[in-house]
Amino acid sequence: MANSKNIREDQDTADQSGAYHVPVLLQEAIEALDIKPAGLYVDCTFGGGGHSMEILKKLNEDGKLIVFDQDEAAKKNVPNDKRIIFVAHNFRHLQKFLRLHKQTQVDGILADLGVSSHQFDEAERGFSTRFDAALDMRMDNRQPLTAAEILNNSTELQLHKIFEKFGEVTNSKTLAKTIVEQRAITPFKTINAFKQSVQGIVKGNPNKYFAQVFQALRIAVNDEMGALEEMLQQAVPALKPGGRLVVISFHSLEDRMVKNFFKHGAVQEPEADDVYGTRQESPLTIISKKPIGASAAELKINPRSRSAKLRIAQKK
Ligand SMILES: C[S@@+](CC[C@H](N)C(=O)[O-])C[C@H]1O[C@@H](n2cnc3c(N)ncnc32)[C@H](O)[C@@H]1O
Repeated sequence: MANSKNIREDQDTADQSGAYHVPVLLQEAIEALDIKPAGLYVDCTFGGGGHSMEILKKLNEDGKLIVFDQDEAAKKNVPNDKRIIFVAHNFRHLQKFLRLHKQTQVDGILADLGVSSHQFDEAERGFSTRFDAALDMRMDNRQPLTAAEILNNSTELQLHKIFEKFGEVTNSKTLAKTIVEQRAITPFKTINAFKQSVQGIVKGNPNKYFAQVFQALRIAVNDEMGALEEMLQQAVPALKPGGRLVVISFHSLEDRMVKNFFKHGAVQEPEADDVYGTRQESPLTIISKKPIGASAAELKINPRSRSAKLRIAQKK
């Protein structure tokens, strides 16, 4: 599984930059948005604000940028600039917050999915296999569901499916069974205790194995696939005709969802043509026929960009 397309283990590595987050595919994403100086843009995943700062540079005084991040820690990165509005909520509520800010249609939407380097590098957030901490993994600390909750309360079948689907863990069934046995002795609280109690069934390189297990838990804790689906569906009515939708994803489940959505206007590939032999036309035109990856130069300075894929679409 070391080379699995689905794995993000390269993102959970020590970051030497000290930055909150080094933006990935920065110039590519900005070009993809095709920014109009007086336009209205949405950055769904503000993080360290790397992409947002570049968007602001392209906007004139009349331009506006609405940014989302469900992690309140990102708020400290918001510049003192009257053109920017920070929304400390999940981007799955895109439409609601656009309405709240009296905006209906926007010129472009960017989403740079997943976790920031800051989240991986803050031990107590519980995202990283490199540290010991509470099994948390919430991007939004206001939500009650944590990784410990999932490990201690999900059924064996639910755990099996989480590890299989979101982490491609080779022995996900055995892992789920072991978790259910071990939690009956002592419920899970911390990362190290969890790793120790399942160490007997680890397959292959333990770092890679736990990277897959942690990715799966993180996707489940934050309902990342559900949030992405809802955001994509709301992005179409939220865009003006000709407006751009730009998504950077980091694993194949997300990328497939984005690819299908751009192609069919739905995240699942339609099973068959309807009775008239026609398919519903996608509301989007695909601008990037193939996903755009990081250049050799970027890969050299930011190994976390390794699994990034950028896709661009335009509202018809
Ligand atoms: C990869 S980072 C974005 C980095 C940013 N583009 C930059 O240049 O610094 C992803 C950020 O999006 C946030 N995020 C992820 N999923 C989210 C969601 N469903 N709703 C709101 N924010 C989300 C995370 O908290 C994290 O800060």
